[in-house]
Amino acid sequence: MASANNRRTLRGVLYPYRWRMLVGFAWLMATNAAALWAPRLLNEGVEMLRAGRPWRAVWPHAVLMAAVAVAGAITRVASRISVFNVGRDVEYTLRSDVYRALSRQAPDWFASFPSGDLMTRATSDLSNVRLLFGFTLLNAVNTLVVFAGTLPLLWGLDPVLAVACLVPYPVVFLAARGVSRRVFAQTRENQADLSEVGARVQEFLGGLPVVRAFAAEDHEHARFTAATQKYYASGVRLAVTRNLFGPVMGVLGAASALVALWYGALRVLDGHLTVGGLVEFNTRVALLAWPTLALGWLLAVYQRGRASLERLNDVLSAVPAIRDPEHPVDVAPAGGALRLEGVGVRRGAADDAGARWTLHGVDLDLPARGFVGIVGATGSGKSTLAMLVPRLVDVTAGRVLVDGVDVREQPLMVVRRRVAVASQEAFLFSATVLDNIRFGRPDAGEAEVETLLDAVAMRQDITALPQGIHTVVGEKGITLSGGQRQRVALARALLCAPEILVLDDTVSAVDSETEQRMLAALRSEAGRRTLVVTSHRLSAVKDADEILVLDGGAVVERGKHDALLARNGRYAALWGRERVLEELTRMERDLGGAA
Ligand SMILES: Nc1ncnc2c1ncn2[C@@H]1O[C@H](COP(=O)(O)OP(=O)(O)OP(=O)(O)O)[C@@H](O)[C@H]1O
Ligand SMILES: [Mg+2]
Repeated sequence: MASANNRRTLRGVLYPYRWRMLVGFAWLMATNAAALWAPRLLNEGVEMLRAGRPWRAVWPHAVLMAAVAVAGAITRVASRISVFNVGRDVEYTLRSDVYRALSRQAPDWFASFPSGDLMTRATSDLSNVRLLFGFTLLNAVNTLVVFAGTLPLLWGLDPVLAVACLVPYPVVFLAARGVSRRVFAQTRENQADLSEVGARVQEFLGGLPVVRAFAAEDHEHARFTAATQKYYASGVRLAVTRNLFGPVMGVLGAASALVALWYGALRVLDGHLTVGGLVEFNTRVALLAWPTLALGWLLAVYQRGRASLERLNDVLSAVPAIRDPEHPVDVAPAGGALRLEGVGVRRGAADDAGARWTLHGVDLDLPARGFVGIVGATGSGKSTLAMLVPRLVDVTAGRVLVDGVDVREQPLMVVRRRVAVASQEAFLFSATVLDNIRFGRPDAGEAEVETLLDAVAMRQDITALPQGIHTVVGEKGITLSGGQRQRVALARALLCAPEILVLDDTVSAVDSETEQRMLAALRSEAGRRTLVVTSHRLSAVKDADEILVLDGGAVVERGKHDALLARNGRYAALWGRERVLEELTRMERDLGGAA
């Protein structure tokens, strides 16, 4: 299911609901039949009274008129329930599709769609599409039926008068078409501005501590105001265009009614039309007023829905950069041997030809259950390398093999189940610590989770929380410290008992004492599964089977700890500096203790 085109068309979206729509339209027909019959009954009633028929003969006619009105009301409600519910279902289905499309995208894709923008698409744009399928469709069909039913009846009453009443219509329809095109363009603009506002709000809330710390409220407020003003301006422009429809259609209805009354009266005097016929004619022209008025509104809602569907298509039709292979190869798990062959990675937009290489020429041959350490300065490509294994990033050149098979040839789900990652950012959900840890294995028991707390040196921290392991952490884990978040994320990865464990700087935010305890636990992990550890601190990887020292995306030194020290190169220099810093920290602490 590689690059299936997921664009939705109006027809395609509606197709699964065609039968339900037809039922709704059948109710609509019944409503219209009642509405079209009523003026004829009125005509007959008037003529009965004019002919001086006794009340005995007239009242059954009156009861029939009432019954037709009630039947019309009931079928009207039924038609709305059927059709509007289809609108809701379309919205529901599209929302699930958008959600699925988002979850398939590779992390780098989101750089071009800020979350505020995606939020707008998933809420406001979806509502516009729902209105298109409920409200617009119902009224469009209704208008058609009313016109198709009424015109022959008007013609039957008095062809000359009918033509006179309809003269203004074609002119106005042409004008309405022009206006509706503008509504489409202006809606796209307005929704894009709303996205911008959403993105601003989202970024402002996310960055609130930074904004406060830098006393940048005024500056941020100005940026936000600029975005809202832009949205306001395009909103007003759109509203003006949309509201042009009302008066135009209103004038049309009024002109028709005027002609019907004035010219109709002349036709009665000439003897071409009865009084009852004129009453019926006028009632029918009045019944056209609402569908005519609605037509303008419909065109606006239709164009707005179409513009919003286009925006949803931007998301739905984006082909994920990282996806399942056409012909997946099933691999028998063999302990998670990891091999990198001439790996090069270019990150950033796919069409960004100028993007530089984040990694290049990286080779590695790690046996199953081996331990590789990756060190290097900030921005040297450590996280990128770590993300290659679970295919959160794909190679641009070379291959990554797990148990001898290219990860791009294995089913994506299989690769991701075999590899667990505890990443630098350590994202947590606003749930209990317990549920965060068992995120990858919701069936895990509390006791099993408890035993992991020691392995990640987290026992004391958890005991200090108000409800222990059942404490709910705030959004993104905001109520925990950075180091605590990282260790919860580490426990989450460990619980999955994967064949390959990737720790991307997971121990960076804890003090060296805690780091040592965690490393002891991890070392006992090393014998059981393949371990990929990236770190700023060399002490975290000194027991690795192989250590890669990265610089600017290339491996500049490699080997075991002792061999690297003996080389007296970059690793040895970094190691020396780290030991000095550690010694200084110890002395400082001892002095603090003595004082
Ligand atoms: N999503 C991205 N799109 C484009 N470039 C990126 C992206 N993420 C990272 N990079 C670039 O790739 C390079 C390597 O980043 P990476 O995160 O792998 O470094 P790192 O060694 O993990 O750094 P640190 O020690 O700070 O975590 C950086 O220069 C960065 O600018
Ligand atoms: Mg990193």
